[in-house]
Amino acid sequence: MKRLGIVVLSLIFSFQASADEREVITIPSEIKALFLGEMRTHLDNLNEITLAVASGDFKSAAFVAKNKMGFGHSVREIMTVQGKSEEEIEEKLAQLRKKHGTSDHPGRGMGRYMPEEVRELGRAFHKAAEHFANVADTVKNPPTVADYQRVFTALSETIDVCSACHSSYRVE
Ligand code: HEC
Repeated sequence: MKRLGIVVLSLIFSFQASADEREVITIPSEIKALFLGEMRTHLDNLNEITLAVASGDFKSAAFVAKNKMGFGHSVREIMTVQGKSEEEIEEKLAQLRKKHGTSDHPGRGMGRYMPEEVRELGRAFHKAAEHFANVADTVKNPPTVADYQRVFTALSETIDVCSACHSSYRVE
């Protein structure tokens, strides 16, 4: 009897695990490929950040978060390839932030193809990454236990946004 109970329970759990109730975002297939590519890069970015923190290199961790995950990171990457100066890039990003940073606006990144609720999560993600960058950037040498705690808390807050979006949405 006990065994039967376990079988029934495990069937219920496996059914629940396979039911996918996430909202579907429909995007053109070439955009989907770009989007998922960007996602995989974000996982690499997280790994780079974690490795940098593990080796006590907080400046590099902050650099990756700000430049590869912060607001307008795609624009920054393009302008960097074009050889623009840090000043020109910051000026452009300040303009874009004013225009698209908080309002209901599609912006220039992947958000253009997404519903507003997803864009909002995207903005929360950029903000969390920027907050992490600020926290990591202010760590002095040698770092204290409290510094590590602040840095990992900010990192976890960023990962929380990744998870929040993944648990609610999928693309097709
Ligand atoms: C605004 C929403 C959003 C945020 C924020 C977000 N993701 Fe995603 N991510 C998605 C969606 C939607 C998918 C597609 C899931 C699906 O269709 O099953 C995805 C897929 C992925 C994939 C799978 C890629 C593939 O090739 O299939 C990885 C890896 C990933 N995300 C990593 C991350 C990491 C790491 C973060 C945070 C640093 C993050 N994502 C933040 C929405 C988001």
